[in-house]
Amino acid sequence: MTLPKLELLHRNRWHTLSNVPPARTLLDLLREDLRATDTKEGCASGDCGACTVVLGTGEHAHSVNSCIRMAHSAHGLQVTTASDLSANGQLHPAQQAMVDHHASQCGFCTPGFVMSLYDLYNRAQGHAVSREEAMEAISGNLCRCTGYRPILDAAMAMHLYPPPSKPLALPTTTTASQRDPLDPHYALPTSLQQLLPLRARFANAHIMAGGTDAGLWVTQQHRQFDQVIDITRVSELQRIEQYPHHVAIGAAVSIHDAFAALAERRPAVHDFAHRFAGRPVRQSGTLGGNVANGSPIGDSMPLLIALGAQVVLMAWRKGRVVHRHVALEDYYLNYRKTVLAPDELLCWIVVPHPQPDEQLHCFKVSKRVEDDISSVCLVLNMQLQHHHVRELRIGVGGVAATPVRAVQTEAVLRGQDFSQANLTLAQTCLMQEFQPISDMRASAAYRRKLLGNLLQRAWLAHHSTGVLRLEDLAVDSLERKELP
Ligand SMILES: Cc1cc2nc3c(=O)[nH]c(=O)nc-3n(C[C@H](O)[C@H](O)[C@H](O)COP(=O)(O)OP(=O)(O)OC[C@H]3O[C@@H](n4cnc5c(N)ncnc54)[C@H](O)[C@@H]3O)c2cc1C
Ligand code: FES
Ligand code: FES
Repeated sequence: MTLPKLELLHRNRWHTLSNVPPARTLLDLLREDLRATDTKEGCASGDCGACTVVLGTGEHAHSVNSCIRMAHSAHGLQVTTASDLSANGQLHPAQQAMVDHHASQCGFCTPGFVMSLYDLYNRAQGHAVSREEAMEAISGNLCRCTGYRPILDAAMAMHLYPPPSKPLALPTTTTASQRDPLDPHYALPTSLQQLLPLRARFANAHIMAGGTDAGLWVTQQHRQFDQVIDITRVSELQRIEQYPHHVAIGAAVSIHDAFAALAERRPAVHDFAHRFAGRPVRQSGTLGGNVANGSPIGDSMPLLIALGAQVVLMAWRKGRVVHRHVALEDYYLNYRKTVLAPDELLCWIVVPHPQPDEQLHCFKVSKRVEDDISSVCLVLNMQLQHHHVRELRIGVGGVAATPVRAVQTEAVLRGQDFSQANLTLAQTCLMQEFQPISDMRASAAYRRKLLGNLLQRAWLAHHSTGVLRLEDLAVDSLERKELP
């Protein structure tokens, strides 16, 4: 088996690597092949951020967890690690601010935090950032000893330092040589025209998107892939297209960009988006990957079901492209079983624009606020006229073998007043509509209780003058007020 050559730009020079197995992670390649041991391995599951690197250049650069990212997905790209930042002998503002604010103790987490701050510094283009922006930037990083205040202080002080004297730049003399983008050992097709026939030919090849689910199968279950088709370079699947009545989001659009596009017309999605994993996972993971993986506790599906989204499935059959639209709630058959045929790919997620009288309530309950998976996720999308429920859709996660639509509860409220009496009827129905299981995240009884309580929270939010949002509890600022 001749594996395609992998070329990546690191420390301002191109490295060419042979015989890199399709399931080798970028972290292993960095540490073991390139000896870039500044990048650490903590959890190997995307949770701690010790392995954070920045992938790509310019506006396409973003932080990712290298422990669950496949090495071949970095082919032709620049990979920046913490020690690159001070390659010219001067610490980068992200590093100097960490030093000056005593933001490192044992230091194990530090390279990962530095890379998250570097990513933030680049996005802010050297300008000041707020505490909220700093918190969002480090939402995928864990520190066990320093505590987060000094790290946040460092993040907010980066702009005060002189800009890096020599910005990291691609060497202009060398570029990654071409490799066959259709080599099925690790294919990197760039168009649907390449992707769909390739899928038809290699129906057993693993479809790789951001790898934030699949990477864990490698690091936790030691799975190998004989053939991989990586869809992240397919230009059509990276697009977000606005139409008069809907937005079409390509399957390879990152969770971060997809939620940002939805939040443009639906501000309620903004806070909900921040509850999805941490920033590097949101930047690497794709909307298509979340939907296709079909985890019963995935977060985008309850939202998309409530918004009335459809998925567009495409295949190459008899020399031409065929496609079909499927309502998202009909896409799932059973636990991780979907209607997707072996030669099909999920290519688009189509989301209708909001109606003028739409009210959207998105709730995610998890053990931790940041970077945690849902115990229960409930999204209620109602069209209300003077407290009268004209139409509604309810998407739920964490209560069945698949993400689900609460059709029985919808029927209780549709066409009725959104009154206390009807709410009670709907709560009773919702708590009986599904049979959740008990697991490490929550007991079945707790999940049922949550369903009723979340519906009540939506009712209270609708009827109260104040808005009930966990995100508005500024615990951090309260703490600071109490300090002398
Ligand atoms: C630390 C951490 C925190 C997380 N937190 C959350 C969270 O809060 N909420 C949540 O919902 N998820 C969470 N996840 C799960 C994961 O990030 C998401 O499911 C993500 O959207 C997966 O997208 P991906 O591009 O990484 O998919 P991949 O891992 O590349 O693929 C996932 C699966 O989908 C298939 N697939 C991907 N794209 C397509 C396509 N276009 N057509 C057909 N099949 C396809 C792949 O073959 C694979 O089986 C978390 C993961 C980690 C590691
Ligand atoms: S090693 Fe913990 S996120 Fe990668
Ligand atoms: S400094 Fe020790 S884990 Fe963060």
